[in-house]
Amino acid sequence: MTRFAYVNGRFLPHDAAAVHVEDRGFQFGDAIYEVWSIRAGELMDADGHFGRLERSLGELRIPNPKSRAGYRLLIAELLRRNRLRDGLVYLQISRGRADRDHAFPAADTPPTVVLTTKRLDIAAAQRRADAGVAVITTPDLRWGRCDIKTVNLLPNVLAKQTAREAGALEAWLVDRDGLVTEGSSTNAWIVTADGRLITRQADQGILHGITRATLMQMAEKMGYTVEERAFSVEEAVSAREAFMTSATSYVTPITRIDGRPVGNGAPGSIATALREAYLDNV
Ligand code: PDD
Repeated sequence: MTRFAYVNGRFLPHDAAAVHVEDRGFQFGDAIYEVWSIRAGELMDADGHFGRLERSLGELRIPNPKSRAGYRLLIAELLRRNRLRDGLVYLQISRGRADRDHAFPAADTPPTVVLTTKRLDIAAAQRRADAGVAVITTPDLRWGRCDIKTVNLLPNVLAKQTAREAGALEAWLVDRDGLVTEGSSTNAWIVTADGRLITRQADQGILHGITRATLMQMAEKMGYTVEERAFSVEEAVSAREAFMTSATSYVTPITRIDGRPVGNGAPGSIATALREAYLDNV
């Protein structure tokens, strides 16, 4: 079965899908992206991700080439062509193609729009969540606007590779004060001894995770107290539970940080309950 990608108005076989060498996304990383999880053919948290997409474009003054309905039509067609029921949709939008010059190109330069899909083995993801995952910590080397979902992911790439080489699934990024910002592609959470949920405040130091925002609301409805504040690596290691959230991992318990067990070293009951609630509700 041919797998398709969408590039600037056309559905192309994935192998042949390409952007121009002078695309500003390639030349400068002058682009943003968004990721939706697909379950049973439906976009999860659709409007949250559309809202962040519009905000990322607005912050970088990249004109938004389509309406939400326009993107939804393209995504539905790509899912249909790729027969995707469970997986991920990636959307990248760059400031377009122009001769290389750091400053913005002419205002009428059309943005580049790319859509791809990826299958997700949900059984394997569930097995990972059931077993719990390991994270390592590494310095946060990123810029000052981590709230914008740009394709500039080099520090994230290096951090994830450090984690993989250490046999861990994720890297938690640590700021100059020794406080955890977030994971390389996930938001970071801990549970205190008395059952409060802690996740860093959504300022310019982290990506405002859509899964994080949805889970905060759900957890409060379930009767948990959510505190938005930074926590140190030490506080995390001695916490009752730790977990991460993202469109790709939903809610996944963390059982080891830098090789040290969190709680009793097994997935926490609160993280597990939140994962189930999230998958039931979204
Ligand atoms: N990553 N923090 C970072 C740095 C991220 O890249 C992501 C998402 C998140 C979680 O955000 P959300 O809940 O909206 O997915 C937090 C996506 C999935 C990716 O890069 O593939």
